[in-house]
Amino acid sequence: MSAPPVFEGTDGINPALAALAAGRLVAIPTETVYGLAADAASAEAVAHIYAAKGRPSFNPLISHVADLAMAATEGCLDERAFALADAFWPGPLTLVVPANEGGKSCELARAGLGTIGLRVPGHPLTRQLLDAFGGPLAAPSANPSGRLSPTTAADVERAFGDEVALVIDGGPCDAGIESAIVSVLPDDSPRLLRPGAISRSALENVVGPLADRLSSDINAPGQLISHYAPAATLRLNATTCRRDEVLLGFGPAAPPGLNLSPTGDTVEAAANLYRMLRELDGKGAEAIAVMAIPDEGLGEAINDRLRRAAAPRDQTLT
Ligand code: TXA
Ligand code: MG
Repeated sequence: MSAPPVFEGTDGINPALAALAAGRLVAIPTETVYGLAADAASAEAVAHIYAAKGRPSFNPLISHVADLAMAATEGCLDERAFALADAFWPGPLTLVVPANEGGKSCELARAGLGTIGLRVPGHPLTRQLLDAFGGPLAAPSANPSGRLSPTTAADVERAFGDEVALVIDGGPCDAGIESAIVSVLPDDSPRLLRPGAISRSALENVVGPLADRLSSDINAPGQLISHYAPAATLRLNATTCRRDEVLLGFGPAAPPGLNLSPTGDTVEAAANLYRMLRELDGKGAEAIAVMAIPDEGLGEAINDRLRRAAAPRDQTLT
């Protein structure tokens, strides 16, 4: 398995356009995590995503779009969805809305659902790529299913072989944790399907109280009990570090060593989360003890990922 070529910055745009037009996969930088993109209009190209990730095919992909106009051809945004889009796009918000008949995203990208996940990503290189491509790009996080999401081009390069045509290196991801996913569907309150890089309170300031995900909502890998897992096992809310463990600290009271945020800032902790878990994995740690993180701000999303990473690996659906 040879690693895919990595192109720095804008050098990757034209080769990426050619690869996408040929139905191939391209790893793209976003402000949250790196994505594994294909032409959302081509079921064959999208099928390569599921194969490369080893992802169950019942799990729909997000269609990344250039702007609000492209979003509105793919899905039906009501006033509430427009308000959220207006406040947070481009940015780390995914809206799940009814799919539009005339949209380009193929059924496989939506996993056959009548709804579609839409996002205008904030990273300038990916925005440039989307503008030039002129259509939606289906892209999950660029990690093998169930593993840590990539926050650098090197993470992607290590994880995939020539099933990925190339990687666009846009530097380390700013947010470091996936987008917040909100469903805005007719006759229903907006629901927070996945906490993410925008806090619940920031979202609620725009759209009012968010309901929780229904247990009947689709069971996607990001919603599996065991997900986002490093190779090492995880122990949460640790106050001490046992002899066979390495510590991942949080806040000023943590002992010296890796610390998600020495000042106790959840935005900084989110940006460091996957990188530090990967670093501890790289040291061959068998077990990682993670200190408690408050549920405020991005803490809700961080704790969601940590709980899944700590769950027994043989657990299936929530
Ligand atoms: O930050 C992110 O969202 C990154 C970057 C690359 O954009 N993408 C990402 O994609 O995290 P992925 O596939 O790893 O997670 C997307 C989640 C999945 O859990 C999927 O089930 C959910 O979005 N999703 C997509 N379309 C949906 C739909 N129509 N209804 C409910 N959930 C949906
Ligand atoms: Mg993912």
